[in-house]
Amino acid sequence: MCAPEFFTVGYAINPWMDPGTTVDVELAVKQWTRLRETLVDLGHTVHVMQAQPGLPDMVFAANGAFSVEGVVYGARFRHPQRSAEADHHKAFYAEQKSWRFVAPTEVNEGEGDFAYLPGRLGGLVLAGHGFRTDLRAHAEVQVVLGRAVLSLQLTDPRFYHLDVALAALDDHTITYYPGAFAEPTRQILRNAFPDAVVADEEDALAFGLNLISDGKHAVLNSEATGLAAKLRAAGYEPVPVELSELKKGGGSVRCCIAELRG
Ligand code: ARG
Repeated sequence: MCAPEFFTVGYAINPWMDPGTTVDVELAVKQWTRLRETLVDLGHTVHVMQAQPGLPDMVFAANGAFSVEGVVYGARFRHPQRSAEADHHKAFYAEQKSWRFVAPTEVNEGEGDFAYLPGRLGGLVLAGHGFRTDLRAHAEVQVVLGRAVLSLQLTDPRFYHLDVALAALDDHTITYYPGAFAEPTRQILRNAFPDAVVADEEDALAFGLNLISDGKHAVLNSEATGLAAKLRAAGYEPVPVELSELKKGGGSVRCCIAELRG
């Protein structure tokens, strides 16, 4: 994770961002800290990267890389405003020593567009494209990680990253909002995941799908009360957190977390 010390909305690269809006940095840091504490309370280890002035979106740490079993596929951002973030993530993995970092050739925004299901096909990568990550990166990540990739096409600009439209709930199950995807992709998701928790537009607009689950607890935006109820009915324990300030940047819980799969 990376604290929102320098968070602002000074440019617009997704429909949620309004450069005229004011951001309460103190509140953003307070809400982010609560999220970090929530993860720690659930028994997880959280590493914190140093925030950098001039990189307001660095709080969305999910976009900086994608790791599976010690191999890290680096990010290459779509927009120049964020491109410098990639090297900070690379340096983080280099410091940790135990990682093998692979620099990407193709444009991809890390866990923003990649989800991982270890229990499917010996490890299945769900990969989004349409707005940020290039389809060519799906082929590249498959070679780098040696895992099958299922390409999913996003079509609604409000859901510009896979992680605002779909989330892994455990090793083999997902939750998603069908309306964010192209019709052929919806059919693929229906066929591949008949057991999925299907979210509606209200759940998705409340950033409910931008959740992180450890297979038991699903930490999600507190505004997504409808999805929280559906998750509870499906056997998961919803853990709501307030992240209203970061929503102004077009992100929530999942965007703030780069999962380390060592
Ligand atoms: N303002 C950021 C952007 O548009 C938000 C990124 C949200 N991150 C995510 N993983 N969906 O790039």
